[in-house]
Amino acid sequence: MNHLTSLLDVTADDVQFILQQSGVLKSEYLKGKRRPLLAGHVLVQMFEKPSLRTRLSFEAAMMQLGGSSIFLSKDEAGLNGREKLEDVARVVGGYADVIVLRTFSQLLIETFAKVSGKPVINGLSDEYHPCQALTDLFTLDEQIGELAGRRMTYVGDGNNVAASLAVGCAMLGVEFTVAAPTGYQLDEALLNRLRSMFPDAQISQTTDPQQAVAGTDCVYADVWASMGQEAEKDQRQQVFQNYQVNGSLMSAAGPQAWFLHCLPARRGLEVTDEVMDGPQSLVFPQAENRMHVAKGIFAWALDVNL
Ligand code: CP
Ligand code: NVA
Repeated sequence: MNHLTSLLDVTADDVQFILQQSGVLKSEYLKGKRRPLLAGHVLVQMFEKPSLRTRLSFEAAMMQLGGSSIFLSKDEAGLNGREKLEDVARVVGGYADVIVLRTFSQLLIETFAKVSGKPVINGLSDEYHPCQALTDLFTLDEQIGELAGRRMTYVGDGNNVAASLAVGCAMLGVEFTVAAPTGYQLDEALLNRLRSMFPDAQISQTTDPQQAVAGTDCVYADVWASMGQEAEKDQRQQVFQNYQVNGSLMSAAGPQAWFLHCLPARRGLEVTDEVMDGPQSLVFPQAENRMHVAKGIFAWALDVNL
């Protein structure tokens, strides 16, 4: 079963395959070609947290490929509480061809995948956001071509997005640096695991954003307080105040550096308008690419023959 509970589920070949299929389906879409490759298929999405891009991109992708999509919020079904999680997973697996979950708990997604009998895709958990990282690598590849040997510098909180980028970069040979305050960096256990899985991986962490971005191919930002961390918002604004991606940091990076942000952005906090709307920003093509990569993920998860 082709689950995507995190990028640790899949191989570098799977990642390359998903990116390649996404590219084929994107170029067909841009030519106005919409093949009903998933006619009759049903996507079920169950989310415990809000979403704009993830929900819509998966729905649009499924509909453009000829299938249908059903969305259940936490209040409508309840992933864990109204009935046992495993019972929910077995019931949903009986109706759906593919399932996207957005949760707090990573374990919940992994448990669901074990019993659903259908491919389960992580649409964000507290630990990982694999579909986002796949899209980010796809977006960067579109701009600069072959990714191996390139550099990405993530500035901000060592969160779910940063963790998935670390895995994806290690797999594809992209040097990955996190610039984050002490106490907010990526879990060293994950980095050690990646270093042993991918001995050539170049992953490092620092507290110095100016130095970390110099000469990089991509500066990446995400919110300082993720969903579920709202109570820490004010304290985090203090901790991260020197980690804003602004014109001065992009100058330190250099003119070759692209800017990525998974969105939603808190303009004026982790990123300024000048950078979001500036010539180095790819944030809106990146957001659109969520839909194209969602198709690539479906094609891989459902063994669609292009
Ligand atoms: N980037 C992303 O996952 O956005 P949403 O939270 O809007 O889905
Ligand atoms: N780190 C953010 C990503 C949102 C797409 C969050 O978890 O809220």
